[in-house]
Amino acid sequence: MALLNTNLKPVEGFSRLPKEKQIEYLSSLFDNPARVRRLIDLFSIQDTEFQKRFDEFSENTLASYPLPFGIAPNFNINGSIYHIPMVIEESSVVAAAANAAKFWLKRGGFHTRVISTVKKGQVHFISDAPPEQLKEFEEDLEYFLKLRLKPLTARMENRGGGLKKIKIVSSIDKIANYYQLDVDFDTVDSMGANFINSCLEEMATGLTEYFAQHLPGKNLEIIMSILSNYVPDCLVEAKLEAPVALLAGIHPEITPQDFVRKFAIAIEIARQNISRAVTHNKGIMNGVDAVVLATGNDFRAVEAGVHAYAARDGQYKSLSTIDLSEGMFYYSLTLPLSLGTVGGLTNLHPMAAFALELLGNPSAKELMQIAAAAGLANNFSAVRALTTWGIQKGHMMMHLSNILNTLAATESEKVLAREHFNGHKVSYSAVELFLKKIRSAGA
Ligand code: MEV
Repeated sequence: MALLNTNLKPVEGFSRLPKEKQIEYLSSLFDNPARVRRLIDLFSIQDTEFQKRFDEFSENTLASYPLPFGIAPNFNINGSIYHIPMVIEESSVVAAAANAAKFWLKRGGFHTRVISTVKKGQVHFISDAPPEQLKEFEEDLEYFLKLRLKPLTARMENRGGGLKKIKIVSSIDKIANYYQLDVDFDTVDSMGANFINSCLEEMATGLTEYFAQHLPGKNLEIIMSILSNYVPDCLVEAKLEAPVALLAGIHPEITPQDFVRKFAIAIEIARQNISRAVTHNKGIMNGVDAVVLATGNDFRAVEAGVHAYAARDGQYKSLSTIDLSEGMFYYSLTLPLSLGTVGGLTNLHPMAAFALELLGNPSAKELMQIAAAAGLANNFSAVRALTTWGIQKGHMMMHLSNILNTLAATESEKVLAREHFNGHKVSYSAVELFLKKIRSAGA
């Protein structure tokens, strides 16, 4: 299937067309319009009420785009067992998480804690008022704005959160007359993006009024009001710890002492070398993002915040650290994670709601700890494989199904291939050759 003409002309008013007409228009661009329609039908939810709900999550929605929803069972987190839902397309991620969970189940499990839960937003403004004068008004302004925002914050305050602190930060040395209102929020169990942004826009109006009343003659220009996805004060920690001797059995030819020594060098490399650090952290985010997606949270916000945090002291580094003192293996991960378990998609997406039910309807703090444990599990599995048998053995074994499907293998060919490749190296050409052989033998 291909476009009839790759030189497309702009389309007017696409978002105003009813869905049926949008599909008709898009199909007409292809040499096989019936196939486009079949694809859209195939990936539209049969329950039209649900599909309508999905349509309304976004704009110009034509169909749904399924990703695998899997379970990494048997995570022992602080003594409780969780079967963790993960949404991810990469074949080996759920298996790697499940494998680490199983390994650590009998070795004390994952130890997690929330360090802090402050989220931040900013009103960026320009003013010719000098910083000392603005500082003088800071406390009074905080009182004024908190009072003004009561109608917006009352419900959140009833839930134990709300608007916490307002500071005026001068950055006049970087941009002429540039200041920010730096605002701390606690959004309890919601991710809180809409709450924070509504508060900030109201604060910007309040700031304008405050200037008119208290700083006549000083100019004020609001540039923008928006939350920050950098959340270094919304932190969670996950840890693994065991006497080194307990790590026996990872590889028949490797002693636990040798295993941890090499493992620790790998972590040090990811702290010193940016090329390795990014890939190392990507392995952590395999686990974190899969939980974030499964529970209907915003993975772009999480990704942006986590990577900025990894570079917080000027050099991008591994997010996990290791300590081998006193014959122990201490492995830990600290992450900024702003997650919600109420609001947003969490209740509207039936699979996200199910994922949260499976986790026992956790609070946002509990979900932060579960996601961090999944991140550390995937990181442990990846570094363990990299420093022992290599990553490709497991990856390619998991990828075998994708190759078999690409080569249109039948169910009985798949059974034969899985048996064969249990003892042979998987590659696209090796699988192709194997299928060729069994097909010609059968012909
Ligand atoms: C692949 O998705 C993730 C790894 O590259 C992570 C790592 O290298 O640590 C295996």
